[in-house]
Amino acid sequence: MLKMSIMEDAMAATSQPVSRGPVPGGLAPQSLPLPEIFARVSRHVPAIEWPALAPDIEAILRLKRERNAVILAHNYQAPEIFHTVADIVGDSLALAREAVSVDADVIVLAGVHFMAETAKLLNPAKTVLIPDMGAGCSLADSITAEDVRGLRARYPGVPIVTYVNTSAAVKAESDLCCTSGNAVEVVRSLNAPRVLMIPDEFLAQNVQAEVPEVEILTWAGHCEVHERFTPADIRDVRESYPGVTVIAHPECPPDVVAESDFSGSTAMMMNFVIEKRPAQVVLVTECSMADNIAAQNPDIEFIKPCNMCPHMKRMSLKNIRRALETMTHEVTVDPALAERARAAVERMLAVRAR
Ligand code: 13P
Ligand code: SF4
Repeated sequence: MLKMSIMEDAMAATSQPVSRGPVPGGLAPQSLPLPEIFARVSRHVPAIEWPALAPDIEAILRLKRERNAVILAHNYQAPEIFHTVADIVGDSLALAREAVSVDADVIVLAGVHFMAETAKLLNPAKTVLIPDMGAGCSLADSITAEDVRGLRARYPGVPIVTYVNTSAAVKAESDLCCTSGNAVEVVRSLNAPRVLMIPDEFLAQNVQAEVPEVEILTWAGHCEVHERFTPADIRDVRESYPGVTVIAHPECPPDVVAESDFSGSTAMMMNFVIEKRPAQVVLVTECSMADNIAAQNPDIEFIKPCNMCPHMKRMSLKNIRRALETMTHEVTVDPALAERARAAVERMLAVRAR
């Protein structure tokens, strides 16, 4: 089955080390002169806008040195963050893995709150900052710790796998976590006939298709960005661009994933495009993904549709600079809760199928 084998291919590819700096294997931005940093984003930032951005970029690079800070940026960050000031970029799994070994006093998380909390769980002694506390997530908002206790009471003995897109309080009630990059392996690792996979209903249904031997129970949480895509979107794009490659994030509804050629986490999507180099591709996900790949792969044509995540887009060069200047907003987790939530994340990190 084509989709399966491509999926396994790309899963192997994502076991490569995460990028140090925005280009896989590339230099971290502080070691580059400004014109070279500008060259990285010149396809997306017109030359006329560069003088407005350069002072913030320069200030951030200086502040990172002064504070001994690193910036972890999710793949959905805009190119002017992703390609200029980020030290480590990746999907949720890569950011969690890298957070364990980060050698710095301060971590600035350019992403959303649950990612900053995960970084804090794994680095209790470090200062973790998020430039805007309002950067939430519809999935994280869809479930509470009390809901998970209710599920545990209703399904005694059924392991609870919680997507990392949740609060530390929800993680603390779970057996282990997963991301979109390892959900299949995490479920298989349990060797259980039934698994609760919460709170993303569509991710759970997409995993169910890959692991038919396990009964997966789920929750009605959705990503507000990915739930808006429809199979008709995919059919329209295929009609307009015959031969186009369609890649969908597994937070999309199953009927959207079924219409696509490949599905995987943001890192898996990125690796797939960079390795297979389709002439035309549509990334059924957040818009910055295509922009970040296109910035360095001008030969690949990216076709819309895409949707913006309003939470991810709360990050800006201005508020990253302010975070480092004022050392705000610090993300903290109650130590007793953190211990239980950390255990769920660490159990996930111990599943090493890819
Ligand atoms: P990835 O783990 O695939 O990067 O996606 C997580 C996500 O939903 C970010 O919003
Ligand atoms: Fe949450 Fe969806 Fe935004 Fe990711 S893209 S942060 S899952 S709302």
